[in-house]
This record gives sequence, C-alpha cells and structure tokens, in this order.
Amino acid sequence: MNQHTPLRAEMLSAIELSLQQRGFAHKTPEQLFAPIDYTLRLGGKRIRPLLSLLAAHLLSESWREALPVATAVEIFHNFTLLHDDLMDRSPLRRGQPTVYCRWDDNTAILSGDAMCIEAYRALEGVARGEILAQVLPRFSAVALEVCQGQQYDMNFERRDDVSVDEYLEMIRLKTSVLIGLALELGAMSVGADEEICHRLYQVGESLGLAFQLQDDLLDVYGDEATFGKPVGTDIANAKKTLLLLYTQAQLPVDQRHELAQLLCLPPERNAERIERVRALYDRVGVRSYAEGLIEDYTRRALERLASVVPDEARRAELEDLFRSLMHRNS
Ligand code: IPE
Ligand code: IPE
Ligand code: MG
Ligand code: MG
Ligand code: MG
Repeated sequence: MNQHTPLRAEMLSAIELSLQQRGFAHKTPEQLFAPIDYTLRLGGKRIRPLLSLLAAHLLSESWREALPVATAVEIFHNFTLLHDDLMDRSPLRRGQPTVYCRWDDNTAILSGDAMCIEAYRALEGVARGEILAQVLPRFSAVALEVCQGQQYDMNFERRDDVSVDEYLEMIRLKTSVLIGLALELGAMSVGADEEICHRLYQVGESLGLAFQLQDDLLDVYGDEATFGKPVGTDIANAKKTLLLLYTQAQLPVDQRHELAQLLCLPPERNAERIERVRALYDRVGVRSYAEGLIEDYTRRALERLASVVPDEARRAELEDLFRSLMHRNS
C-alpha cells in the first residue's frame, strides 16, 4: 500500500477533498461533529472509496461521477468503526485513541449515528435521479447486512460451536458486502448495466473475504505501530476467527482443552492469554494456512474481475490494488 500509481494518488486526493468539503470541522455542536472530523482526518487506507472510483474508471473516463458514492461508502465505513470499537472495547485505531476512549461511549454512539446519516446525505450528490434510485436500495440493503454481520460477530463471542461456514457468512456480512457495494456503486454511477454492476459486486465479495482474513491475521501477528490497532484483541474478546476454528480442529485433544481454558482466563490475564493462544496457533501453522486462503480468495476476485473486463490493460489498476492488499501490513 506504500506506493500509489499516479491515478490512485489523484483519486485519493479527490477523496480527501470530498470528505473535507462535508465541513465536519465547522459544524455545531462541536461535541457531535469533532469526533467525526477526528476520525476522518486520521485517514486509513481509503480502500472502499478507491474501489468505487476505480470501478467507475474501469468502465468510463469520468470516474469523478463516482465521488458521491465513494464519499458515502467511506463515511459509512467510518461510522461502523466508531460503533465497532465501542463494541470490541478497542482503545486504538489508526495509531490514535478511538472515539469512545478519547471522548466517551455516548459520543461514539451519537457521532456514529450522525455519520450514518451523513453517509446518506453524501449520496444526495448523485446527479442523475435514475441512478440515485438504483443506488439507494442497494446502499440500504448492504448497510443492514453489515449490522447483521456485526451481530453474528458478537453472538459468536459467547459460543464455542461456531462452524467454518458460519464464520465465513459472518465476515461476508460484516465486511465483504460493503467492499462489493463500493465496486458496484462505482459502476452504477457511470451508468453501467445491472449485470456488470452485480458481477463487480461479486468481485468485491471475494476480495472482502480475503481482506477480513488478512485483518484477522494481522490482529494476531501484526506490528501494533504499523497496524495502528492493538494486537491480540480478537483473542482477548474470544472472537471466533477462522484462525481459532482451524487451530481447535487441528490440535490434539489435550491441547484443545488447554486452548478452551485459555479463552476463559480473566481479562487481567489477557497478556498471558494472548501469548499462549498465539503459541498454539504457531504450533498448527495457522499463519501459512490463512495466507493460503487469502491468496485463494484474492485469486478468485482477480478471476471474476477478468471475466467482467476482458481488456487486461483496463483492469491493471484494480489488479494492482488487489495484489497490494494481499501483502498489506496495515
Ligand atoms: C477495518 O477496515 C475494518 C475491517 C473491515 C477489517 P480497514 O482496514 O479498511 O480500515 P481503515 O479504513 O484502513 O482504517
Ligand atoms: C470489522 O471487524 C467489521 C466492521 C467494522 C463492520 P473488526 O472488529 O475485525 O474490525 P477492526 O479490526 O476493529 O478494524
Ligand atoms: Mg473491531
Ligand atoms: Mg468487531
Ligand atoms: Mg479486526
């Protein structure tokens, strides 16, 4: 993610400008809008708006027509992060204190709610009425799916019989559908037909599975300074990641019992819990297993993309982004 092509750099500047133009730095009351401005200024990778603009660029010369949907998707994503950090009790994001830590729980709730509404307001920028009529129901359907995925994620914390299929469906809902939507709405913005929009959504769905698996892997093996989030929170929260499910399935019975006991250690023993669970992960080689899957899902996304856009030169920018995501460390 370090080097951006000139086109990507130009798109990223346009995204920053569009977010700034929403004017959150100056809206009142400050207690409601300052956390929104703070979150958006901390940046992040801007993957979703980039995907919207690149999807538009794939099909048309006027990628700027996708700026309203790109902006809306990014604001919506950031809204989910405010609530997610509160739900996961995670103190750090993008290397800085999360909103509920820097302010308080109520601020994260209400500023988050306002961001969700602001995401819809950004959609009002879609110039053509017939396109907006297509965009709105898709945006709402996916937004609800993200909530469903988040609820499954929370439900699974309290269960010890989650299956691999349930995990995959949970990450599809909480993460992939929004990445798919980013591509879909980018294509919709430049008037692509329904079939193309839907197939690009499917590209994003595959990419999103790889993306969340990579996030889960970085949560265990990442470097906090580069990742910008605390390492080990998923283990501390007993998240039923594929890493955990795979390890449970691979370990001999006595060590499986040890793993179950570790997940019951009290919060004051989190450091020990994280270290010892990681050691069990290492024992079964969970890292190379997950890396293999991340490659498989990324390859599937690339194949799906190639079937939508046969012209190799046209899809080069997107392919380059997909590949760089596979090796990201933030
Ligand atoms: C974090 O998303 C939440 C997940 C779906 C894993 P990103 O990794 O895209 O976060 P930012 O926007 O770059 O900070
Ligand atoms: C993110 O899942 C999903 C959403 C925000 C909807 P995580 O809880 O893994 O995301 P991070 O790791 O906190 O960014
Ligand atoms: Mg989280
Ligand atoms: Mg979460
Ligand atoms: Mg995570």
